[in-house]
Amino acid sequence: MTATIIITGANGSVAIPAVNHLLTKYPDYTAVLTVRNTENTDPNTKKLHETIAKFPNAQTSIRQLDLADLSAVHNFANTIATEISEKKLPPLASIVCNAYYWNLNGDSELTADGIEKTIQVNHISHVAIVLRLLGSFRPEGGRIILFTSNAHFPGKNSLEKYPPAIAVDLDALLHTTPFSDKLAGGMHIYANSKLAILMWGYALNRHLEKDEKLRNITAIIIDPGNLTDSRALRTNTPLFLRVVQRLVLQPLRPLIRLTDPSYRTAADAGIDVVDLATNNVHPGERGYLLTLKKEPSSPDSYNEDTQEKLWVKSAEWAKITKEDTAISII
Ligand SMILES: NC(=O)c1ccc[n+]([C@@H]2O[C@H](COP(=O)([O-])OP(=O)(O)OC[C@H]3O[C@@H](n4cnc5c(N)ncnc54)[C@H](OP(=O)(O)O)[C@@H]3O)[C@@H](O)[C@H]2O)c1
Repeated sequence: MTATIIITGANGSVAIPAVNHLLTKYPDYTAVLTVRNTENTDPNTKKLHETIAKFPNAQTSIRQLDLADLSAVHNFANTIATEISEKKLPPLASIVCNAYYWNLNGDSELTADGIEKTIQVNHISHVAIVLRLLGSFRPEGGRIILFTSNAHFPGKNSLEKYPPAIAVDLDALLHTTPFSDKLAGGMHIYANSKLAILMWGYALNRHLEKDEKLRNITAIIIDPGNLTDSRALRTNTPLFLRVVQRLVLQPLRPLIRLTDPSYRTAADAGIDVVDLATNNVHPGERGYLLTLKKEPSSPDSYNEDTQEKLWVKSAEWAKITKEDTAISII
């Protein structure tokens, strides 16, 4: 068995232990690992290089990819598809759409593509990669791992001020809005991006199941939990959140876990993600998970009408035409 697993944001808090687990437990896979900066001058990429260096026989390749640049995303996916068709890479077993962006400390931003950055990185660029590469999976199928968060579920995230909601005008997701309260506004955009990828994931599963050639590909949309040691809490966040991480969440994690076991380390999440990606956990199943538990997602996320509208719109936003993908996008 030889197959490729792609992980985006591969130098992140979840991804580095995920890579370590993959290379330890499933050494036959080829890992394609995307980062924004491939050089060791980036301390997180350095950690990724050090992790890989422990496995001299592993098949790995680190690729540069900025998910805030849609043409780079298309080029990346095309390159991977070509390498698979030319047998330079084994066919895909999984795409782990791990990378994410948020800004809880500033105004919402537009990318060079003219799209709100959080929705582009977290949702649209991953849609582009998945849709472009569905035709490059191995015949026996595989797994797509999408990442949501408790922020998608109104009332579940303590930083929520404005509950997430997908507006009737879906294009509203692409626009920036000035906020007076940057934390609340940034969190709202992040939450909406995580609701969008969740709802799109439900639609993806429905469309995969309907497709004779692709029905062995399953999508899991995971909320990996509250990862108390993640650098996410120190990236584009206000000082108080960094202090809470250091003085409360980290030292008190064992106690907090007694009432809410979703509080855990990024390494715990990384292990689960790889066991799911390789189809060793919940084999052949689809849908939403909170850590590895089957729990209901938010009531709004089950709205099939909105899911289908998002399915069509997301392909359009991702600039995917019917020639670019193996699945029907209408
Ligand atoms: N941490 C949590 O408690 C938590 C909770 C629920 C869900 N999640 C989800 O779990 C996943 C992993 O989170 P994490 O905690 O591991 O986050 P993290 O440690 O902050 O890592 C984020 C990764 O995304 C990359 N990234 C950021 N902007 C990018 C861009 N424009 N293009 C490409 N890559 C980009 C980062 O790369 P750079 O180093 O280049 O910025 C980094 O590799 C995310 O999808 C997150 O939403 C996390």
